[in-house]
Amino acid sequence: MVSTIESSKKRVLKKLESLRKSVTAAYSVERNRTQTPRVRVAIFILSNPLPTLLTPLPAHKKSCLFHVSPLIDYSTSVIILVLQGASFSIQLQTAKAMDFIHKLINILFPPIAILLLLFFLPPYLIFKYFSYIIRSFCSENVAGKVVLITGASSGIGEHLAYEYARKGARLALIARREDRLCVVADESRRLGSPDVVVIPADVSKLEDCKRFIDKAVNYFGRLDHLASNAAIVKLGLFEDVTQISEFAPTMSTNFWGSAYGTHFAVPHLRKSKGKIIVIASVAGWAPLPKTSFYNAGKAALISFYETLRVEFGSDIGITIVTPGLIKTDMVQGEAFTSEVQVGFIPGESAEGCAKAIVASACRGDRCLTEPSWYRVGPLLKMLCPELLEWACRLTLVGRPGSSKKTS
Ligand SMILES: NC(=O)c1ccc[n+]([C@@H]2O[C@H](COP(=O)([O-])OP(=O)(O)OC[C@H]3O[C@@H](n4cnc5c(N)ncnc54)[C@H](OP(=O)(O)O)[C@@H]3O)[C@@H](O)[C@H]2O)c1
Repeated sequence: MVSTIESSKKRVLKKLESLRKSVTAAYSVERNRTQTPRVRVAIFILSNPLPTLLTPLPAHKKSCLFHVSPLIDYSTSVIILVLQGASFSIQLQTAKAMDFIHKLINILFPPIAILLLLFFLPPYLIFKYFSYIIRSFCSENVAGKVVLITGASSGIGEHLAYEYARKGARLALIARREDRLCVVADESRRLGSPDVVVIPADVSKLEDCKRFIDKAVNYFGRLDHLASNAAIVKLGLFEDVTQISEFAPTMSTNFWGSAYGTHFAVPHLRKSKGKIIVIASVAGWAPLPKTSFYNAGKAALISFYETLRVEFGSDIGITIVTPGLIKTDMVQGEAFTSEVQVGFIPGESAEGCAKAIVASACRGDRCLTEPSWYRVGPLLKMLCPELLEWACRLTLVGRPGSSKKTS
């Protein structure tokens, strides 16, 4: 095996050496012709197993980069010699032509896109409207179906449990506080859920996520909806942070806590043609101060599930929920209100928010913003981001610049 690798390595080295010689020779010929060096010749080793074979080689042998005078008449060309197996192929790209094409697209694309939108938008909006009405009438009946909710011990998650329970769904409730989960489970049974299982777990731990998905599927035999809701928020101006690692749990819970659970749930959701309901936040697009890591985690969630939606196609439905201010423990405690001024923003009840989320998931909506007036936000961000940033800054306690350093 070692001798095969060694002999392949030697063969590749020999090829590179002969290539280097021929390029250098061509370079000298061209240098005699003109003194202006304009062309870059690069050799990229792309295909396997060559990169592995070449790993122990010195850098200049791995990727031989020659700066030479015009070898050919493409004045700003890049010649890429691609090593594929033992054969070389040459691709010529005229950078100038590409630059020109980009300039042309820059000028032509915006007006063409606006024109197309003008024609496309009216029928598209009509289609969306009718599709919404049809989906409202053919909403999924979740009676007897299995719904797993993370962060079910309080707030939105707790009320999601009650709402699904009213519709007759069987529930798997996940959070760290087992005593709180048991209270929610009892109330869910009372409201109409035929079966509820409580699984205490920490979503930021991979093994816990595998355990709660396995346990729920073993118990119920299937999984229909995964409501990924658990999250934490830690407040602070970025500049005031002394231990940056203190914010790692925010990402582990809010982003990874969702990704892990989804990873283990996907095979079961695929079987049941199920749904994922992701509780993100308007913070995913609104630059609210003092919650930079929370905002970043929510933005990552949105992007992550938008990508999964493309990957899953119609096999697994994904509803991305972006709630605004909802009256829950998360935003009502002293720790939150003393740091961020949100008193002037009307908050919605967790119950109302949960009702809207379950209805939206059953309708098969792609997205839900609750309350819906927050939907002007992304438009505002696109058209006049300064205005949105100014509005977000209003929430900062002790403006201007409430950083300890400046106060
Ligand atoms: N309230 C708002 O204004 C608002 C706005 C936008 C988005 N949201 C989002 O809505 C979701 C629910 O938040 P909420 O307002 O209902 O807050 P909440 O009442 O504080 O609920 C958070 C839930 O997450 C659970 N949780 C936290 N860390 C966990 C972990 N490591 N493992 C397992 N469970 C964990 C908590 O239970 P344990 O402590 O028992 O583990 C709790 O049940 C969150 O994703 C939040 O980001 C809320």
